[in-house]
Amino acid sequence: VNDAAARELFDANAETYDRVNTVVSLGMDARWRDWAARQAVTHPGARVLDAFAGTGLVGLRCAALGAEVTLADVSPGMLAVARARAEKSELVVRMAVVDLTDPDLDLPGAPYDAVTMMFGARYLDAPARVIASLSQKLKPGGRVVLVDFVEPDGGLISRVAALYFFHMLPRIASALAGRRGLYDRLVATTHEMGSAAHLIALAQEAGLEIAETRSMGLGLVCGVVGRRPSA
Ligand SMILES: C[S@@+](CC[C@H](N)C(=O)[O-])C[C@H]1O[C@@H](n2cnc3c(N)ncnc32)[C@H](O)[C@@H]1O
Repeated sequence: VNDAAARELFDANAETYDRVNTVVSLGMDARWRDWAARQAVTHPGARVLDAFAGTGLVGLRCAALGAEVTLADVSPGMLAVARARAEKSELVVRMAVVDLTDPDLDLPGAPYDAVTMMFGARYLDAPARVIASLSQKLKPGGRVVLVDFVEPDGGLISRVAALYFFHMLPRIASALAGRRGLYDRLVATTHEMGSAAHLIALAQEAGLEIAETRSMGLGLVCGVVGRRPSA
């Protein structure tokens, strides 16, 4: 999707987004976000960009861990939900309504110690290029924390989870959000994303050194920490 389509899709979706996520991930998404935030906040006062921040679930966790956070997203509707959540939790964060595919982007709070990008790569036509351009906003040695859905490989449990994810989840999620077909793209973009190895390769293609990888959500979710080379 292009940035205008993403804005329209997520603005329409903002109010139901968090609830649908929690229900269809059987509550597991909180743990994935927690892992991402802990990977990003390596020290108190770390500067973190939560790219493709949506309703701020990762970035606000980073702020709660003591980071100085900027939330960036193309959808004002999603960021409005993030703002309400920040106020409720008495967390102070910067926000930027931006198209993160713009290579000349000027982001507040840069340079960062870490960039988080959770369920963002899947919306991009050229994810490695965008990851590379965001990693230019990092201090040398800074980290990019990528988390996304992938096609699981291997065991029985993963195959059962895949059955749920590809066949039941889109219907349940769309029904909960009250819009038929809304989550069909999730399936298509996960097939496009391919395996965990592909997500790792994207980080490498973007010029990052792989520091850590993690399989989560019964193999349906992959976390990758890439480091911007120091030299
Ligand atoms: C699936 S949500 C993920 C939100 C959040 N990171 C999370 O973990 O729940 C994807 C987000 O990417 C944003 N997005 C998509 N394309 C974008 C672009 N070109 N520039 C900035 N944000 C974009 C959407 O508005 C949406 O909020």
